[in-house]
Amino acid sequence: MSAGFGTGFHATPTGTVDASAYERFTGRWSRLFIPAVLADIAPGSRVLDVSTGTGEAALMALPIVGVSGFVVGADISADMVSIARTKASAASTAEERAVTFEVQDAAQLSLGRTFDLAVSLFDSLNYILDPAALRSAFRRVYAHLVTGGVFAFDLNSLYALSHDLFSQTNFHGPVQHIWTAHWDRELRRCRVDMEFTVKDRETGELRHFTETHVQRAYTVPEITQWLGEAGFVKVECFGNYGTRPPGPKSDRLLFVCERG
Ligand SMILES: C[S@@+](CC[C@H](N)C(=O)[O-])C[C@H]1O[C@@H](n2cnc3c(N)ncnc32)[C@H](O)[C@@H]1O
Repeated sequence: MSAGFGTGFHATPTGTVDASAYERFTGRWSRLFIPAVLADIAPGSRVLDVSTGTGEAALMALPIVGVSGFVVGADISADMVSIARTKASAASTAEERAVTFEVQDAAQLSLGRTFDLAVSLFDSLNYILDPAALRSAFRRVYAHLVTGGVFAFDLNSLYALSHDLFSQTNFHGPVQHIWTAHWDRELRRCRVDMEFTVKDRETGELRHFTETHVQRAYTVPEITQWLGEAGFVKVECFGNYGTRPPGPKSDRLLFVCERG
């Protein structure tokens, strides 16, 4: 996978981020919270999924918006986009025409269309390590929304990234892992060294690989300020996918705002 400067979801010395393993293991978690974020869309809605990964949110939006709407998923990783496109081609022919996937950096997003809803889910924006690039991504999303259009995204909190929540093991199921997290207080970055063992669906053979992911922690006040500077209004932040503002130990932050 190729990734732009300043992104933490990147190739490692020992291998590349494995999009197919992501689809089997991590993508399934994003399915759990996507319906809440898509609750307000309707037939005819135009939906943008920034950092779409393997296209989960985009493809869940597709049957709701139907052929009178459209969905675009954009991701910096060509491998992720390739899987998303393959999944889209399994959708019905009519719906398939209503979704497209593009390889694009969120900080330079340029799609030539406007949308009613933009989402960026599953802590994708934490992978943008350079604050200037994240602010640029906010401006680019703003430019792609109609007036009153909504932008919703979730982030891992400073608490989650700095309190070792990503040192984890899982020895069950087809994708097993050992993750070790390292927090850099100065740079506010969490590097997670990941070892995976994946069982091949057909042969049952085990495949081992490693990845390194780096995420940057952003605070609620700085995100709120940057969204405001980009032109967003009605900025709200909720902790842990609930309906309340985040507390000091919330590990996930959901931001929702509108294009003014
Ligand atoms: C944890 S995955 C989430 C994918 C998807 N949103 C989901 O819910 O499954 C993070 C995604 O962000 C993408 N990404 C990282 N930096 C990016 C950037 N600067 N622009 C666009 N996508 C980016 C990665 O390629 C990866 O697909």
